[in-house]
Amino acid sequence: MFQLKYLSDCTSDTIHAAAISLMAGNLVAFPTETVYGLGADATNSAAVSRIYSVKGRPINHPLIVHISSITGLRDWAIDIPEYGIRLARDFWPGPMTLVLKRGKLAQNFITGGQETVGLRVPDHDVALALMEAFESIGGKGIAAPSANRFGQVSPTTSSAVVDELSKYLQSTDLIIDGGACAVGVESTIIDCTGHAPQILRPGAITEIMIEESTGLECIDSLGNSIRVSGSLENHYAPMAKVSLCEVPTPGQGFIALASIQTPPGVIRLASPQDDEEFAQILYTALRQADIQGLAEVVVIQPIGIGIAVAIRDRLSRAANGR
Ligand code: TXA
Ligand code: MG
Repeated sequence: MFQLKYLSDCTSDTIHAAAISLMAGNLVAFPTETVYGLGADATNSAAVSRIYSVKGRPINHPLIVHISSITGLRDWAIDIPEYGIRLARDFWPGPMTLVLKRGKLAQNFITGGQETVGLRVPDHDVALALMEAFESIGGKGIAAPSANRFGQVSPTTSSAVVDELSKYLQSTDLIIDGGACAVGVESTIIDCTGHAPQILRPGAITEIMIEESTGLECIDSLGNSIRVSGSLENHYAPMAKVSLCEVPTPGQGFIALASIQTPPGVIRLASPQDDEEFAQILYTALRQADIQGLAEVVVIQPIGIGIAVAIRDRLSRAANGR
Protein backbone atom coordinates (compact mmCIF):
# COMPACT_ATOMS: atom_id res chain seq x y z
CA MET A 1 0.00 0.00 0.00
CA PHE A 2 1.28 3.39 -0.96
CA GLN A 3 2.27 5.56 1.97
CA LEU A 4 3.60 9.04 1.62
CA LYS A 5 6.09 10.32 4.16
CA TYR A 6 5.21 13.82 5.11
CA LEU A 7 7.83 15.49 7.31
CA SER A 8 6.29 18.37 9.22
CA ASP A 9 8.85 18.18 11.93
CA CYS A 10 11.98 19.53 10.27
CA THR A 11 14.69 18.59 12.76
CA SER A 12 18.23 18.10 11.52
CA ASP A 13 17.66 14.32 11.74
CA THR A 14 14.64 14.39 9.46
CA ILE A 15 16.42 16.70 7.00
CA HIS A 16 19.41 14.37 7.01
CA ALA A 17 17.13 11.40 6.33
CA ALA A 18 15.62 13.32 3.39
CA ALA A 19 19.12 14.00 2.01
CA ILE A 20 19.95 10.30 2.23
CA SER A 21 16.71 9.49 0.45
CA LEU A 22 17.61 11.92 -2.36
CA MET A 23 21.03 10.30 -2.64
CA ALA A 24 19.31 6.91 -2.97
CA GLY A 25 17.46 8.21 -6.05
CA ASN A 26 14.11 9.08 -4.49
CA LEU A 27 12.15 12.28 -5.00
CA VAL A 28 11.79 14.83 -2.21
CA ALA A 29 9.31 17.70 -2.51
CA PHE A 30 10.52 20.64 -0.43
CA PRO A 31 9.58 24.25 0.32
CA THR A 32 11.42 27.24 -1.11
CA GLU A 33 10.60 30.93 -0.67
CA THR A 34 8.92 31.00 -4.11
CA VAL A 35 6.97 27.74 -4.55
CA TYR A 36 7.44 24.09 -3.53
CA GLY A 37 9.94 22.15 -5.65
CA LEU A 38 9.99 18.46 -6.62
CA GLY A 39 13.61 17.53 -5.99
CA ALA A 40 15.94 14.83 -7.26
CA ASP A 41 19.71 14.32 -7.29
CA ALA A 42 20.68 16.48 -10.28
CA THR A 43 23.48 14.08 -11.26
CA ASN A 44 21.28 10.95 -11.25
CA SER A 45 19.57 10.48 -14.61
CA ALA A 46 17.15 7.80 -13.36
CA ALA A 47 16.00 10.01 -10.47
CA VAL A 48 15.68 13.03 -12.76
CA SER A 49 13.65 11.06 -15.28
CA ARG A 50 11.16 10.28 -12.51
CA ILE A 51 10.62 14.04 -12.07
CA TYR A 52 9.49 14.17 -15.70
CA SER A 53 7.12 11.24 -15.33
CA VAL A 54 5.65 12.43 -12.02
CA LYS A 55 5.08 15.91 -13.46
CA GLY A 56 3.98 14.68 -16.87
CA ARG A 57 6.45 17.18 -18.30
CA PRO A 58 7.95 16.99 -21.80
CA ILE A 59 11.49 15.63 -21.59
CA ASN A 60 13.12 18.50 -23.48
CA HIS A 61 12.17 21.15 -20.90
CA PRO A 62 15.24 21.94 -18.77
CA LEU A 63 15.29 21.81 -14.96
CA ILE A 64 16.70 24.31 -12.47
CA VAL A 65 19.55 22.98 -10.32
CA HIS A 66 19.41 24.19 -6.71
CA ILE A 67 22.67 24.64 -4.82
CA SER A 68 23.38 25.77 -1.26
CA SER A 69 25.69 28.68 -2.07
CA ILE A 70 27.54 30.53 -4.79
CA THR A 71 30.52 28.21 -4.12
CA GLY A 72 28.85 25.41 -6.08
CA LEU A 73 28.40 27.60 -9.15
CA ARG A 74 31.59 26.66 -10.93
CA ASP A 75 30.82 22.92 -10.79
CA TRP A 76 27.72 23.58 -12.85
CA ALA A 77 28.56 26.58 -15.06
CA ILE A 78 31.46 28.01 -17.04
CA ASP A 79 32.27 31.38 -18.63
CA ILE A 80 30.18 33.20 -16.03
CA PRO A 81 30.10 36.89 -16.95
CA GLU A 82 31.03 39.55 -14.42
CA TYR A 83 27.42 40.73 -14.24
CA GLY A 84 26.26 37.14 -13.47
CA ILE A 85 28.61 37.01 -10.48
CA ARG A 86 27.27 40.40 -9.35
CA LEU A 87 23.68 39.15 -9.52
CA ALA A 88 24.56 35.96 -7.62
CA ARG A 89 26.34 37.99 -4.92
CA ASP A 90 23.51 40.50 -4.59
CA PHE A 91 20.46 38.22 -4.75
CA TRP A 92 21.42 34.71 -3.58
CA PRO A 93 20.02 33.15 -1.56
CA GLY A 94 16.89 34.49 -3.21
CA PRO A 95 14.11 34.18 -5.79
CA MET A 96 16.40 34.31 -8.83
CA THR A 97 17.58 31.68 -11.33
CA LEU A 98 20.60 32.36 -13.52
CA VAL A 99 20.87 30.71 -16.92
CA LEU A 100 24.57 30.17 -17.66
CA LYS A 101 26.75 28.22 -20.06
CA ARG A 102 26.72 24.68 -18.73
CA GLY A 103 29.68 23.14 -16.90
CA LYS A 104 30.74 19.50 -16.59
CA LEU A 105 28.06 18.43 -14.11
CA ALA A 106 25.15 19.75 -16.18
CA GLN A 107 24.25 16.83 -18.38
CA ASN A 108 21.68 16.65 -21.17
CA PHE A 109 19.04 15.16 -18.87
CA ILE A 110 19.15 18.41 -16.83
CA THR A 111 19.53 20.95 -19.62
CA GLY A 112 17.03 19.40 -22.02
CA GLY A 113 19.95 19.08 -24.45
CA GLN A 114 20.66 22.82 -24.42
CA GLU A 115 24.11 24.30 -23.83
CA THR A 116 22.93 26.27 -20.79
CA VAL A 117 21.92 25.41 -17.24
CA GLY A 118 19.59 27.18 -14.80
CA LEU A 119 20.97 27.59 -11.25
CA ARG A 120 19.44 28.93 -8.07
CA VAL A 121 20.22 29.27 -4.35
CA PRO A 122 16.78 29.42 -2.67
CA ASP A 123 16.21 31.54 0.42
CA HIS A 124 14.42 29.10 2.72
CA ASP A 125 15.80 27.54 5.89
CA VAL A 126 14.45 24.07 5.08
CA ALA A 127 15.68 24.14 1.47
CA LEU A 128 19.13 25.38 2.53
CA ALA A 129 19.36 22.78 5.32
CA LEU A 130 18.35 20.04 2.87
CA MET A 131 20.94 21.12 0.30
CA GLU A 132 23.67 21.43 2.91
CA ALA A 133 22.84 17.96 4.26
CA PHE A 134 22.80 16.60 0.69
CA GLU A 135 26.12 18.22 -0.16
CA SER A 136 27.64 16.94 3.12
CA ILE A 137 27.11 13.37 1.88
CA GLY A 138 28.58 14.09 -1.55
CA GLY A 139 25.56 15.56 -3.38
CA LYS A 140 26.24 18.29 -5.93
CA GLY A 141 22.85 19.86 -6.54
CA ILE A 142 19.11 19.23 -6.42
CA ALA A 143 17.13 19.44 -9.65
CA ALA A 144 13.71 20.85 -8.80
CA PRO A 145 10.88 22.10 -10.93
CA SER A 146 7.74 23.41 -9.26
CA ALA A 147 5.97 20.45 -7.61
CA ASN A 148 2.86 20.48 -9.81
CA ARG A 149 1.66 18.51 -12.81
CA PHE A 150 2.78 20.10 -16.09
CA GLY A 151 0.81 23.26 -16.95
CA GLN A 152 -0.96 23.44 -13.58
CA VAL A 153 -0.73 26.02 -10.82
CA SER A 154 2.48 25.79 -8.75
CA PRO A 155 1.98 24.66 -5.13
CA THR A 156 2.77 27.14 -2.36
CA THR A 157 1.84 24.84 0.54
CA SER A 158 2.69 21.22 1.25
CA SER A 159 -0.98 20.25 1.14
CA ALA A 160 -1.15 21.63 -2.41
CA VAL A 161 1.81 19.36 -3.27
CA VAL A 162 -0.10 16.40 -1.84
CA ASP A 163 -3.16 17.35 -3.93
CA GLU A 164 -1.05 17.70 -7.10
CA LEU A 165 1.31 14.75 -6.86
CA SER A 166 0.38 12.12 -4.27
CA LYS A 167 -1.18 9.92 -6.97
CA TYR A 168 2.09 9.88 -8.89
CA LEU A 169 4.69 9.58 -6.11
CA GLN A 170 6.06 6.31 -4.72
CA SER A 171 6.13 5.11 -1.13
CA THR A 172 9.84 5.93 -0.87
CA ASP A 173 9.35 9.57 -1.93
CA LEU A 174 8.96 12.38 0.59
CA ILE A 175 7.14 15.65 0.99
CA ILE A 176 8.68 18.10 3.45
CA ASP A 177 6.29 20.61 4.99
CA GLY A 178 7.76 24.06 5.55
CA GLY A 179 4.61 26.17 5.74
CA ALA A 180 3.34 28.59 3.12
CA CYS A 181 5.90 30.05 0.68
CA ALA A 182 6.71 33.70 1.41
CA VAL A 183 7.01 34.96 -2.19
CA GLY A 184 4.36 32.80 -3.84
CA VAL A 185 5.40 33.10 -7.51
CA GLU A 186 8.34 31.36 -9.18
CA SER A 187 11.84 32.84 -9.34
CA THR A 188 12.94 35.46 -11.83
CA ILE A 189 14.86 33.64 -14.58
CA ILE A 190 17.72 35.66 -16.06
CA ASP A 191 19.66 34.58 -19.13
CA CYS A 192 23.30 35.48 -18.48
CA THR A 193 24.78 34.17 -21.73
CA GLY A 194 24.62 37.44 -23.65
CA HIS A 195 26.38 40.80 -23.28
CA ALA A 196 23.72 41.90 -20.74
CA PRO A 197 21.07 40.19 -18.59
CA GLN A 198 17.80 39.15 -20.19
CA ILE A 199 14.70 38.31 -18.15
CA LEU A 200 13.13 35.06 -19.35
CA ARG A 201 10.51 34.89 -16.58
CA PRO A 202 9.65 37.85 -14.29
CA GLY A 203 9.63 37.31 -10.52
CA ALA A 204 10.38 39.02 -7.23
CA ILE A 205 13.83 40.15 -8.43
CA THR A 206 12.69 42.90 -10.77
CA GLU A 207 14.20 44.52 -13.86
CA ILE A 208 15.07 47.64 -11.85
CA MET A 209 16.87 45.56 -9.20
CA ILE A 210 18.82 43.72 -11.92
CA GLU A 211 19.82 46.93 -13.66
CA GLU A 212 20.85 48.56 -10.37
CA SER A 213 22.93 45.53 -9.41
CA THR A 214 24.71 45.10 -12.74
CA GLY A 215 24.81 48.66 -14.08
CA LEU A 216 23.55 47.19 -17.37
CA GLU A 217 20.31 47.64 -19.23
CA CYS A 218 18.41 44.35 -19.61
CA ILE A 219 18.07 42.95 -23.13
CA ASP A 220 14.48 43.12 -24.32
CA SER A 221 12.96 39.64 -23.92
CA LEU A 222 10.72 39.68 -26.97
CA GLY A 223 11.68 37.23 -29.69
CA ASN A 224 13.73 35.05 -27.38
CA SER A 225 13.87 31.46 -28.57
CA ILE A 226 15.18 29.75 -25.42
CA ARG A 227 12.85 26.98 -24.33
CA VAL A 228 11.20 27.91 -21.02
CA SER A 229 8.16 25.80 -20.25
CA GLY A 230 6.87 28.47 -17.87
CA SER A 231 6.76 30.82 -20.83
CA LEU A 232 4.34 28.64 -22.77
CA GLU A 233 1.13 30.52 -23.24
CA ASN A 234 -1.16 28.19 -21.34
CA HIS A 235 0.64 27.65 -18.07
CA TYR A 236 -0.16 28.20 -14.39
CA ALA A 237 -3.82 27.46 -15.12
CA PRO A 238 -6.50 26.15 -12.72
CA MET A 239 -9.52 24.20 -13.99
CA ALA A 240 -11.68 27.29 -13.57
CA LYS A 241 -11.62 29.76 -16.45
CA VAL A 242 -9.54 32.80 -15.46
CA SER A 243 -10.83 36.15 -16.75
CA LEU A 244 -9.00 39.44 -16.48
CA CYS A 245 -10.35 43.01 -16.83
CA GLU A 246 -13.97 41.99 -16.38
CA VAL A 247 -16.64 42.75 -13.81
CA PRO A 248 -17.57 39.52 -11.97
CA THR A 249 -21.16 38.32 -12.04
CA PRO A 250 -22.92 36.44 -9.19
CA GLY A 251 -21.54 32.95 -8.62
CA GLN A 252 -18.13 33.76 -10.07
CA GLY A 253 -14.92 33.76 -8.04
CA PHE A 254 -13.17 37.08 -7.47
CA ILE A 255 -9.56 37.99 -6.58
CA ALA A 256 -8.56 41.64 -6.18
CA LEU A 257 -6.72 43.99 -3.85
CA ALA A 258 -8.57 44.59 -0.57
CA SER A 259 -9.26 48.19 -1.64
CA ILE A 260 -11.59 46.86 -4.38
CA GLN A 261 -15.09 45.95 -3.17
CA THR A 262 -16.83 42.65 -3.83
CA PRO A 263 -19.91 43.02 -6.08
CA PRO A 264 -23.09 41.35 -4.69
CA GLY A 265 -23.32 37.57 -5.06
CA VAL A 266 -19.68 37.20 -6.08
CA ILE A 267 -17.46 34.70 -4.24
CA ARG A 268 -14.44 36.56 -2.89
CA LEU A 269 -11.42 34.22 -2.91
CA ALA A 270 -8.75 36.64 -1.68
CA SER A 271 -8.31 40.28 -0.63
CA PRO A 272 -4.56 40.97 -0.50
CA GLN A 273 -3.49 44.29 1.02
CA ASP A 274 -0.62 44.91 -1.40
CA ASP A 275 1.19 43.44 -4.41
CA GLU A 276 3.53 41.28 -2.29
CA GLU A 277 0.57 39.68 -0.52
CA PHE A 278 -1.17 39.34 -3.89
CA ALA A 279 1.76 37.22 -5.17
CA GLN A 280 1.86 35.21 -1.96
CA ILE A 281 -1.80 34.16 -2.01
CA LEU A 282 -2.47 34.07 -5.76
CA TYR A 283 -1.92 30.35 -6.40
CA THR A 284 -3.76 29.31 -3.23
CA ALA A 285 -6.70 31.48 -4.30
CA LEU A 286 -6.72 29.95 -7.81
CA ARG A 287 -6.65 26.48 -6.25
CA GLN A 288 -9.50 27.52 -3.97
CA ALA A 289 -11.59 28.29 -7.07
CA ASP A 290 -11.15 24.66 -8.14
CA ILE A 291 -11.79 23.27 -4.66
CA GLN A 292 -15.08 25.20 -4.60
CA GLY A 293 -15.88 23.92 -8.09
CA LEU A 294 -16.22 27.42 -9.59
CA ALA A 295 -16.50 27.63 -13.36
CA GLU A 296 -14.91 31.06 -13.62
CA VAL A 297 -12.75 33.36 -11.56
CA VAL A 298 -12.30 37.06 -12.31
CA VAL A 299 -9.02 38.66 -11.26
CA ILE A 300 -8.36 42.40 -11.14
CA GLN A 301 -4.64 42.58 -11.82
CA PRO A 302 -2.33 44.84 -9.80
CA ILE A 303 -0.80 47.61 -11.92
CA GLY A 304 2.61 48.20 -10.31
CA ILE A 305 6.07 47.56 -11.81
CA GLY A 306 7.56 45.48 -8.97
CA ILE A 307 6.32 41.93 -8.36
CA ALA A 308 3.07 42.98 -10.07
CA VAL A 309 4.87 42.34 -13.40
CA ALA A 310 5.27 38.65 -12.42
CA ILE A 311 1.66 38.46 -11.21
CA ARG A 312 0.37 39.83 -14.54
CA ASP A 313 2.68 37.47 -16.46
CA ARG A 314 1.31 34.38 -14.67
CA LEU A 315 -2.28 35.60 -14.83
CA SER A 316 -2.14 36.26 -18.55
CA ARG A 317 -0.94 32.66 -19.07
CA ALA A 318 -3.57 31.29 -16.65
CA ALA A 319 -6.21 33.26 -18.58
CA ASN A 320 -5.03 31.56 -21.76
CA GLY A 321 -5.28 28.22 -20.02
CA ARG A 322 -8.36 26.27 -20.89
O1 TXA B 1 11.01 29.47 -8.14
C1 TXA B 1 11.38 28.57 -8.91
O2 TXA B 1 12.13 28.78 -9.87
C2 TXA B 1 10.86 27.15 -8.63
C3 TXA B 1 11.47 26.68 -7.31
C4 TXA B 1 11.12 25.25 -7.00
O3 TXA B 1 12.86 26.85 -7.35
N1 TXA B 1 11.19 26.29 -9.71
C5 TXA B 1 10.58 26.36 -10.90
O4 TXA B 1 10.98 25.38 -11.79
O5 TXA B 1 9.75 27.21 -11.17
P1 TXA B 1 10.13 25.03 -13.11
O6 TXA B 1 10.85 23.89 -13.74
O7 TXA B 1 8.73 24.81 -12.76
O8 TXA B 1 10.33 26.29 -13.96
C6 TXA B 1 11.64 26.61 -14.35
C7 TXA B 1 11.66 27.14 -15.72
C8 TXA B 1 11.14 26.15 -16.73
O9 TXA B 1 10.20 26.81 -17.52
C9 TXA B 1 12.38 25.76 -17.50
O10 TXA B 1 12.08 25.52 -18.86
C10 TXA B 1 13.27 26.98 -17.31
O11 TXA B 1 13.02 27.39 -16.02
N2 TXA B 1 14.69 26.65 -17.44
C11 TXA B 1 15.42 25.80 -16.70
N3 TXA B 1 16.66 25.71 -17.17
C12 TXA B 1 16.74 26.55 -18.23
C13 TXA B 1 17.75 26.88 -19.17
N4 TXA B 1 18.94 26.33 -19.12
N5 TXA B 1 17.45 27.78 -20.13
C14 TXA B 1 16.23 28.34 -20.21
N6 TXA B 1 15.23 28.03 -19.36
C15 TXA B 1 15.47 27.16 -18.39
MG1 MG C 1 6.80 25.15 -13.04
